[in-house]
Formats: sequence, structure tokens, C-alpha cells
Amino acid sequence: MKSVLALGSLFSSALAAPLVSWSPALGEFYAAVDRHIQLARQEGTVANPPTCDLSQAVQPVAPTPLPAPDPSWSLAEVVIGRGVQNYTCSSASKDVVPKPIGAIASLYNVSCIAANYPDILNMLPGLALQYALPADPTANLEPANIELVGHHYFTSNGTPTFDLTQVNSVSTASIGNTDIADIDSSLGIAKVKLTSNSTAPADAPKGENGVGDGAVTWLLLDSTYGTEGDVKGVYRLTTAGGKAPATCESSPAVFSVQYAATYWFYSSSSSS
Ligand SMILES: *[C@@H]1O[C@H](CO)[C@@H](O)[C@H](O)[C@H]1NC(C)=O
Ligand SMILES: *[C@@H]1O[C@H](CO)[C@@H](O)[C@H](O)[C@H]1NC(C)=O
Ligand SMILES: *[C@@H]1O[C@H](CO)[C@@H](O)[C@H](O)[C@H]1NC(C)=O
Repeated sequence: MKSVLALGSLFSSALAAPLVSWSPALGEFYAAVDRHIQLARQEGTVANPPTCDLSQAVQPVAPTPLPAPDPSWSLAEVVIGRGVQNYTCSSASKDVVPKPIGAIASLYNVSCIAANYPDILNMLPGLALQYALPADPTANLEPANIELVGHHYFTSNGTPTFDLTQVNSVSTASIGNTDIADIDSSLGIAKVKLTSNSTAPADAPKGENGVGDGAVTWLLLDSTYGTEGDVKGVYRLTTAGGKAPATCESSPAVFSVQYAATYWFYSSSSSS
């Protein structure tokens, strides 16, 4: 029941969202949401409600399969990341390759979708890329008003960081929790390092409107020194956009490429 309602609101808020432009991807999204609503009605899901049980969520497999999650880990949260990948070019030459220098993205909670609707989950990064980053950094994600739960950035010394301490505005407002309680119950702040990578599938969205230099690699990132909280590992999967051109020919010295991806956060099983 809860899940049917969640889908219903996903659908209606998607319709209410200001449409940047209609696209086949958006059409497929509406169709998939509608299919699930019909199916849930037929199956009488009211009597047998689907849950947001993350143990049901199954990661998509990379073209070069990434190592499986460590057996001591359990899946704690799945988010959509939407932002930019940054690059530098030492000269605007075709003999120079753009160098990645970091990324910045907002993170939106799609755990419930991951647990129940993998087809919709896998469409979301491509769709999110069609929407400009909200000017308000605390705003939810269009097209479906998905809740902001954190931020991804690189520290000044280049460490990829995921800050998942974003206070849940709904629960804070309604039950008057202190911020401290919310931070304690969050996944904390993860500092990570690259463990393994795979190229994205050939059919991954290359950029906005399908135009761009391709989807950034899929990754396994392990938690490292400086992590506060319980994140042990993070996968970056179903990427859309974010890749730099193959060479620096006619590139500026510093530039950003729009991207979206799903991030799968694992914590130690014992604590959950
Ligand atoms: C990436 O570029 C954006 C501007 O497009 C900037 O706000 C951000 O701080 C940059 N982050 C890194 C890690 O380079
Ligand atoms: C993310 O969504 C799941 C499922 O709806 C929920 O249990 C969890 O508390 C949410 N996480 C945050 C940080 O809001
Ligand atoms: C991806 O992994 C390969 C080894 O499997 C390594 O040579 C390469 O540098 C990695 N690429 C990135 C972007 O980390």
C-alpha cells in the first residue's frame, strides 16, 4: 500500500514538474510507473504490501563485472547523484588528454525505488541529466521530487567525499528532532578511494539529450582514512554523461561535464 502510494505520488509529482522538454526517455519513465501502478492494483498489493527492503535490491552488473560487495557489508542506501565531473587541460592540444580533477553532486534517496522497481531506478540517471541542477542546493530532484539526502564533493587535497548528514527536513519539522539525532542516525561522512572500475555499457546515455562524450566509468570505492560514520564501500553504477572529450583540442583550461549516476552505499552488517 505504502509503496503504491509512493509510486502514485512519484507519478503525480512528475506530471506537476515543469517539463523541460518531452523526450522518449521521459515517456518510457511514465509508462513504467504506470505499468507498476496497474500491476500493483491487479495483484491486490494492498493486502500484501511491498516494502522498501534493501535486501531485495539487485545491483546492475558492469560490462567488466566489479568485485562483489564484501560479505561483511550490507546495503544501507541507494541514491541518485546529479552534478558535474571536472577536468583540466594543460593546453588546448589534440595531443593532451583531459585530466579528471574531481566532481560535485547532490545526492537523492532512491532506496525504496531500488528495492522495488529496478527498471525505474535504471532510467533515473538518464532522466535526471535532462533536468538542470536545481539553483537551490537543498531542493529535491525533478522529475519526481526525490528527497535530497547528501552531497558528493572532493576535498582540497583531492579525496572523494560523500556527506550523508543532510538533515531530513520532513522528520525534523514534524517531530522536532535535534539535528544531532539526525546526524547520528545518518550514514555520516565517507572518504573513499578507488578500488576497481569498469567502462559503462555501450548504450549508457552519452550526455544531455543523448549528446556528449559518453558515460563515466562504473566504480567500486572503498572507505578510507578520515571516514566518520559507517560507510564501508560505495559503488557508482548506471552512469549517464560525465566523460570528457578524448583530447584537449579546443578545450578550456578547466571545464565541467554534466553527469548523473546511482551510488550504492554499504555499511557493516553488524551495525544495522
Ligand atoms: C567543479 O566545478 C564546479 C563548477 O562547475 C565547482 O563549483 C566545483 O567546486 C568544482 N569541484 C571540483 C572538485 O573541482
Ligand atoms: C531513504 O529511503 C529509505 C526508504 O524509504 C528510508 O528508510 C531512509 O530512512 C531514507 N534515508 C534518509 C537519509 O532519509
Ligand atoms: C581502471 O582500472 C584499471 C586496471 O583494471 C587501471 O589501469 C585504470 O587506471 C583504472 N582507471 C581509472 C580511471 O581509474
